[in-house]
Amino acid sequence: MFWIIGAILFGVLYAGYLWRSNRNLPPGPWGVPIFGYLPWLNPTEPYKTLTALACKYGSIYSIQMGKHFAVVMSDPTLVRMALARNELADRTNFEVVNEIMQEHGLIFTHGPLWKEQRKFVCNWLKVIGVTKFGDKKNNLQLLIADAVSTTISKLRQSDNRPIDTGTFFLVHIGDFINLIVLGKAWPEDDPNWIYLRNLAEDGSKKFAIATPLSVLPILKIIPKYRNTVFEVIEGVKNTHFIYKTLMEKRGNEIHESDDLMAMFMKEMTKRTNDKDSHHFTEKQCCFLLSDLFGAGVETTVNTLRWFLLYMALNQGIQNDLHKSLDSACTDGGLIGLEQIKSIPLLKACVSETMRLRPVAPSGIPRSVNTEITISGYRIPKGTMVLPLQWAMHHDEKYWTDPETFRPKRFLDDEGNMINHKAFMPFQAGKRACVGDTLSYWILYLFGANIIHNFNVSPERGLSEKEINTIMDGEFGITLSPAAHNVVFKSRI
Ligand code: HEM
Repeated sequence: MFWIIGAILFGVLYAGYLWRSNRNLPPGPWGVPIFGYLPWLNPTEPYKTLTALACKYGSIYSIQMGKHFAVVMSDPTLVRMALARNELADRTNFEVVNEIMQEHGLIFTHGPLWKEQRKFVCNWLKVIGVTKFGDKKNNLQLLIADAVSTTISKLRQSDNRPIDTGTFFLVHIGDFINLIVLGKAWPEDDPNWIYLRNLAEDGSKKFAIATPLSVLPILKIIPKYRNTVFEVIEGVKNTHFIYKTLMEKRGNEIHESDDLMAMFMKEMTKRTNDKDSHHFTEKQCCFLLSDLFGAGVETTVNTLRWFLLYMALNQGIQNDLHKSLDSACTDGGLIGLEQIKSIPLLKACVSETMRLRPVAPSGIPRSVNTEITISGYRIPKGTMVLPLQWAMHHDEKYWTDPETFRPKRFLDDEGNMINHKAFMPFQAGKRACVGDTLSYWILYLFGANIIHNFNVSPERGLSEKEINTIMDGEFGITLSPAAHNVVFKSRI
């Protein structure tokens, strides 16, 4: 009996091997029918399994993940070249994502809709001040500085009590993102804002549950998965109801405003009688607003939390940063972007944080829209391409002692920032993150002023095992630290 099962299994795997090599596909591990390699993928840290496979099969390999054939890349030059190609400008077509997003928004769209909306969002970012210089940039900086001031006063009131950084920064960075996206910051106890925050906190957990559905849609027959998708769709509907109510209330006030909602509403009015096809509809507006809120808040909040943890666990580096910040800030006010130019150590600490704990460790997948050849291998249409950030950011070829937090690796002998080709937290090419500059500004302004005002330390009494668990993180929509508290002790 056993030898028959063994022979069948061997036959299936050998056929898989022949299929792959005959078709000139990149090498890779064998899988089993329906599931592919999924049974061997660590469900909590898939990026680590994928990185181990890169060590075995090389910097470009293929892997079957449920119904999706994927190619995983971890050579920085290859990744940059591939991501720059038009054939890789699409996202993978996940049924569950389509069901939730209904092919609206920006992050999961493709074709003319994606082109039009991406151009619109990039232009909006320029209008609000994401530019090299000018009054608009100064005004935007003032908005972030307001959020930073409030944060610092709240942290002072904490009176050395340990703070849950997840909930805390969701409020304060969320307030700023609401201002630029919705033109409105709600009071902390506003029911709508509480609802949206709960949704954001819960979203990551729900996403983790729903992830297997993207590669194995058949799982939807199981109530746990089906119900999670229903709950997410319900959350989307309720969020859109809040947005639509806000849109109705705004009326003429939008003419003076340049938040995303106002800009979109103005475009909708302008296009009312437009005969050319476009996507400036109320439905698209709602999906775009939630895309921008989601992409902007979860990523920056978690990167800031990782940064504070690394500061808390590396007191020597935090002391060096205190010295640099003290000498850059002599007037007792807030540290601004101009002063931050002269504090490369701060920038290096933020980059080193994003290297060690990128919020998208497996990479945000792209999809091949026309068959192409990469490194001599055939990559068929529809292949999911993963730029494996974890592998690039932890590879000994590019980083000495890759597991060590050593910000100075980002500085040259004169103390200037170095661009590392293997550092790719925002990915690259036609679909790279549109919010990279804004994220750096948020992280620099929050990071610099918090560390300048406080000494940050871990909650007392944590064992090494507990610290390791926090630092291993939890992988949902993004890689976030496991729940923890940090103590902020005033120093000035
Ligand atoms: C630490 C902060 C952030 C990180 C690490 C990050 C990372 C990423 C990554 C890896 C992608 C996928 C890019 C690709 O496919 O090549 C992405 C896409 C995107 N990000 Fe960010 N992001 C951050 C903050 C932000 C912010 C603040 C915003 C908005 C203001 C934003 C808006 C977007 C949008 C709209 C996309 C989709 C772009 C498209 O599909 O064309 N991100 N981000």
